[in-house]
Amino acid sequence: MGTWHMGERPARRSAEVEALRLGLDLGMRLIDTAEMYGEGGAESVVGEAIGGRRDEVFVVSKFYPHHAGRPKLRAACDASLAQLRIDALDLYLYHWRGEVPLAETVATLEELAAEGKIRRWGVSNFDLADLEELLQVPGGERVAANQVLYNLAHRGIEFDLLPWCGERGIEVMAYSPLDEGRLLRHPALVAVAQRLGAPAAEVALAWLLHDGRVVVIPKASDPGHVRANRAAADLRLDAEAFSALDRAFPPPRRKRPLEVI
Ligand SMILES: NC(=O)c1ccc[n+]([C@@H]2O[C@H](COP(=O)([O-])OP(=O)(O)OC[C@H]3O[C@@H](n4cnc5c(N)ncnc54)[C@H](OP(=O)(O)O)[C@@H]3O)[C@@H](O)[C@H]2O)c1
Repeated sequence: MGTWHMGERPARRSAEVEALRLGLDLGMRLIDTAEMYGEGGAESVVGEAIGGRRDEVFVVSKFYPHHAGRPKLRAACDASLAQLRIDALDLYLYHWRGEVPLAETVATLEELAAEGKIRRWGVSNFDLADLEELLQVPGGERVAANQVLYNLAHRGIEFDLLPWCGERGIEVMAYSPLDEGRLLRHPALVAVAQRLGAPAAEVALAWLLHDGRVVVIPKASDPGHVRANRAAADLRLDAEAFSALDRAFPPPRRKRPLEVI
């Protein structure tokens, strides 16, 4: 479950907490957040939602590029843990690449791991060249995940990044899997969904989930949306659906620079 735009408005807080709790009740086991989202507000919503249920959930947060140097990164991690009210993050991601040398960031992340404040670390919005550079840095090979934009309307990573990460055991996390909701109005997706008798969101998520290559983190505050997103894990698309979606959203034939939101 994603959490971008949660924790921004007090009037919506209890609905957001309830949406995350519903997801946990339905068996969704990963929550993705970031210090950026609501400037700590989303982490605080997550903290409330997972209170008393820490063992049920894999918690991911991210730090700003301007916090990627040693003292600021240590402080950012402590602040995230405090907002989330937990002792350790399961995964801590470098939100997007900034100016700090990768070696300093990696060394600090390894320190935080040794101290038990984070279990694993990874990156986000890193294209292939950034990852290759990261692997040259001492400890860089311990990168656990790369979180990137990936959905039917943005398939560029299928050409290179996705197989490259797969070969190296680097988990790929697909963010904005519904293209922030825009995808759901696409006529080709709507037509496939109507034929299958499923909501468009379910089809879009089932397409991402079908081969187990990526972790998918849809954000939903509406309980009906949470239920549909959970149901996507059980929806099997048929060959006709895959070919209709490939026609409407063709796979990449050449390298495309990594797209970001
Ligand atoms: N690393 C990065 O740089 C980065 C960038 C972007 C996003 N992310 C992460 O990825 C998560 C997901 O991406 P996102 O939030 O950008 O967009 P998204 O998950 O693609 O779409 C979220 C939007 O879709 C709606 N929605 C969700 N499920 C739906 C359903 N079943 N039917 C109809 N509408 C539905 C939500 O509405 P309601 O909320 O009203 O239910 C919300 O408006 C983020 O929350 C964040 O955790 C990371």
